[in-house]
Amino acid sequence: MATTSAPVAAPLALDLVIFGGVGDLSVRKLLPALYMAHLHGNLSLQTRIHALGRQDWDRTAFLAFIEEKVPGFIEPKAFTEAGWQGFVERLNFVSVDATQAADFDALGRALQAGSDRVYYLATAPSLFTAICAHLAGAGLIDSHSRVVLEKPLGHDLASAQRINDEVGQYFQEQQIFRIDHYLGKETVQNLMVLRFGNTIFEPLWRSPYIKSVQITVAESVGVGSRAGFYDGTGAMRDMIQNHLLQLLCIVAMEPPVSLDADAVRDEKLKVLRSLRPMTVADVARDTVRGQYSAGAANGDAALGYLQEDNIPPGSSTETFVALKAHINNWRWANVPIFLRTGKRMAERRSEIVIEFADLPFTIFQDSPRQSVNRLMIRLQPEEHVQLQMMAKEPGSGMRLRPVHLNLDLESAFSERRAEAYERLLMDVIKGRLTHFMRRDELEAAWTWVDPILEGWKLLNERPKAYTAGSWGPAASSALMARESGAWVEES
Ligand code: BG6
Repeated sequence: MATTSAPVAAPLALDLVIFGGVGDLSVRKLLPALYMAHLHGNLSLQTRIHALGRQDWDRTAFLAFIEEKVPGFIEPKAFTEAGWQGFVERLNFVSVDATQAADFDALGRALQAGSDRVYYLATAPSLFTAICAHLAGAGLIDSHSRVVLEKPLGHDLASAQRINDEVGQYFQEQQIFRIDHYLGKETVQNLMVLRFGNTIFEPLWRSPYIKSVQITVAESVGVGSRAGFYDGTGAMRDMIQNHLLQLLCIVAMEPPVSLDADAVRDEKLKVLRSLRPMTVADVARDTVRGQYSAGAANGDAALGYLQEDNIPPGSSTETFVALKAHINNWRWANVPIFLRTGKRMAERRSEIVIEFADLPFTIFQDSPRQSVNRLMIRLQPEEHVQLQMMAKEPGSGMRLRPVHLNLDLESAFSERRAEAYERLLMDVIKGRLTHFMRRDELEAAWTWVDPILEGWKLLNERPKAYTAGSWGPAASSALMARESGAWVEES
């Protein structure tokens, strides 16, 4: 799929149009990110932001709503009254019902003549086709326009293809920015530099020098107020299909020939296509579905998933997944890849752990501890890279003890670290596609995930309970133990 050339660089006038402009994502992430971009002088003078919603509001009513909600999601030390007033000048509200063609004429009148347009679809995917069709009908799409699609992009492969086909009728592939905010995280982008900007890891970054890879995205929060969305989605579709598989791609891909969008995305696609498909027997053996039961979170009592507001009685939606995957290529043959994510886990922690192979033979027979070399890449809440080496314990005898070489990325740089959404929005504005998913990538991810979802349906088992505030069901540790391994917090 040749999609290398991104739209031309943004001219000065830019209209950024947010469908779902007063929704949760816009209030919590998009508007705060745009405020930061404004504050740091990264938006051109003629950038206007149009929030769209069905409310029968004028600009004043909209600003009253925004002023009450948005500042709370801006880092307090970055909030200034002058900065906010300048930002507000850029904001506009247009009352649009996405299903009504006539409303798009009003949108057209609100946009600047001859501007570049970015349409951010922060709505349910069921509205994507109507939005694109009505934008086209009102003559609001040209070859410079871009569209940003928020996840979840589909429920399975067929629905993802349908969305892609529908949006593809109105926008070329190089105009489509499928967002996965994990790709905007500083540490995730840094992983590319760690791998491809240093020589020391590459010779070892393969079978048989790597024993296993663990990728964990653990959250301490529960389902919160998102029951309606989450119960129909579950952890597999919400996290593994996108965020964790994208992390896996960056860990496992071959060196791309350049940072050009398609060069990077071609390599990620190869990883997704090399994932060994799972049979029902594999699903039964190599995956664990969990659901949190009552326990604790941050020292307070926490409800179980089934007791949360608006969760249907007896729901069997999974809030936790652990699984063992394999990549069928020369670099990764026989290296188990463990993916794990969950809500209401012991702590918020996203981490990639590369465990290097055991020594072929040890001369330190008397040491109670044996060698374990690990590279641990912490994505959040802190950002650091640790290399676990073995050292001699002081004193007589030759006893080994692990020590850590620490690279603390937060204190190594004094520069401001932009949030993922700010960075990705700037990429959209500049037409840079490298950190967005291409259609074939998204579909390859679903191609691997679908049989797992299908397998779970056939097996028809309830998710295994785990106590809120724990590291997941016991079966997750057992999955590791079968490969003579352990999750990093257990070892
Ligand atoms: C979103 C999921 O994509 O990512 C949420 O829909 C999840 O369920 C969130 O909480 C996690 O993002 P982050 O950046 O807080 O790790």
